[in-house]
Amino acid sequence: MDEQPLLEIRGLNKIYDNGFHAVRDVSFSLPAGKLVGLIGPNGCGKSTMMRCINKMHSITSGDVLIDGRSVLDQSVTEIAKQVANVPAELKNSFGLTVYETVMLGRYPHLRNLWWETDEDETEVIDAMEKFGIKHLQDRPINMLSSGEMQRVLIAKAYVQEPRLMLVDEPTSHLDMKYKLNVMEYLRAMVKQNMTALVAEHDISLMARYCDLCVIMKKGQLVAVGNPKEVITEDLVRDVYDVIANVGVDKDGEIYVLPKKFAGDYRLRRLRNCSAPLRFDGSRGLAGVAPSMLYYVLD
Ligand SMILES: Nc1ncnc2c1ncn2[C@@H]1O[C@H](COP(=O)(O)OP(=O)(O)OP(=O)(O)O)[C@@H](O)[C@H]1O
Ligand SMILES: [Mg+2]
Repeated sequence: MDEQPLLEIRGLNKIYDNGFHAVRDVSFSLPAGKLVGLIGPNGCGKSTMMRCINKMHSITSGDVLIDGRSVLDQSVTEIAKQVANVPAELKNSFGLTVYETVMLGRYPHLRNLWWETDEDETEVIDAMEKFGIKHLQDRPINMLSSGEMQRVLIAKAYVQEPRLMLVDEPTSHLDMKYKLNVMEYLRAMVKQNMTALVAEHDISLMARYCDLCVIMKKGQLVAVGNPKEVITEDLVRDVYDVIANVGVDKDGEIYVLPKKFAGDYRLRRLRNCSAPLRFDGSRGLAGVAPSMLYYVLD
């Protein structure tokens, strides 16, 4: 008999208040103990889907089950005991130090509201050591580099002891050393039977580290599977409109080398356009002429 999936997404739809249909009938499931790359172009719905999983966003229709239990019947605090969120950056740090930020990860588990136990403190100190941020523990987190901040956010999620970690673009601001560093941490963490779903634009990095990848395009699921089988030149062309070389290096790792845009860049000049500028996701804004004539990418 098949094992119960850790995460199961059934017919998920998310329509925003303005009517935009960002996630369209997505269904897939993931087992425990896997590192999973969530891949797709800007605006294809990756962050939206992740926010539906932990109910940061309401679900329009469909369901999300964690360990067989629907999130629809659970409070956000209950979900936080199973699902940790690692955002790309922390917008409001409220002057918290590194230690205090990591401790926030323990809050879903605190027995006495607002009082941390010795056990919580030990967990936080261990995590700061593990992720190489102990020396920064008294530093306000708005005074950290992007790489340090990312490690703090992962340490915070780690002490939450989740079953599922949702990681949104962990390496976008990091140099190559820290990119590898973050992926190594995530790899080590999933060995403890946790699954990490990682949205990331570096396909080669995902292909190298992930057990599985989930590919999205325009709100829909395109493929789920082993990156070595799923990531092909045809898929990159279909999903990104980009001609790429997909190869295998001398260590047997997949790499993706984008070569050129496969679509048709046509600049249209809209004369006497007085409408306010809009960016609706389906069109890209190419530039604004000083004469206030707008150039729009078809
Ligand atoms: N609050 C909102 N209201 C309306 N539309 C939204 C809202 N948030 C996001 N969108 C739209 O939903 C679509 C999906 O956005 P989302 O942030 O999920 O994409 P993404 O795949 O994470 O992109 P990226 O790779 O750029 O982070 C986009 O077209 C975006 O403009
Ligand atoms: Mg996103």
